[in-house]
Amino acid sequence: MKIRICFVCLGNICRSPTAEGIMRSLVEEAGLEEYIEIDSAGTSAEHLDEEPDPRTHEAAEENGISLVGTARQFEIEDFAEFEYVIGMDGENRDELSSLAPDETAEEKIFLIRDFEPRARRDQDVPDPYYGGSDGFGEVFEILKNACRGLMEHVVIQHDLPS
Ligand code: 4NP
Repeated sequence: MKIRICFVCLGNICRSPTAEGIMRSLVEEAGLEEYIEIDSAGTSAEHLDEEPDPRTHEAAEENGISLVGTARQFEIEDFAEFEYVIGMDGENRDELSSLAPDETAEEKIFLIRDFEPRARRDQDVPDPYYGGSDGFGEVFEILKNACRGLMEHVVIQHDLPS
């Protein structure tokens, strides 16, 4: 059975596509593609079908990561598809909680920085959308560390080859 992970932010054009790209590259690096599948979505439909923000693409490309896919909105049905539904900030998490149909769904909701080694609990990935391009580099670095932590967690939790 595949472990499915969905990263969720507000617009699905900045933070969650970055997390998706980083995590996919870590999964490929570890040769675990047959065990782990990655996706992303937004809580809002405002940027539906749009490519990631050009600044998101740029920060990822600078770090050797190509982003694929276009924005979609997270749907209640996604709770049945994914084992991990991972918000970028507290607002995303609260929004996901309000959509969760039952306790099983609620238990699938996490905050990405809770997987980051040495981070305090409940820390947000800052929303870079209204800031300058520096913010996108910062977001990339935060997500790189957090995704490494998530990768370790998933490998241990599901007893995957490492
Ligand atoms: P994201 O960033 O949630 O990381 O994709 C944002 C994208 C768009 C908007 C806000 C945040 N917006 O207000 O349009």
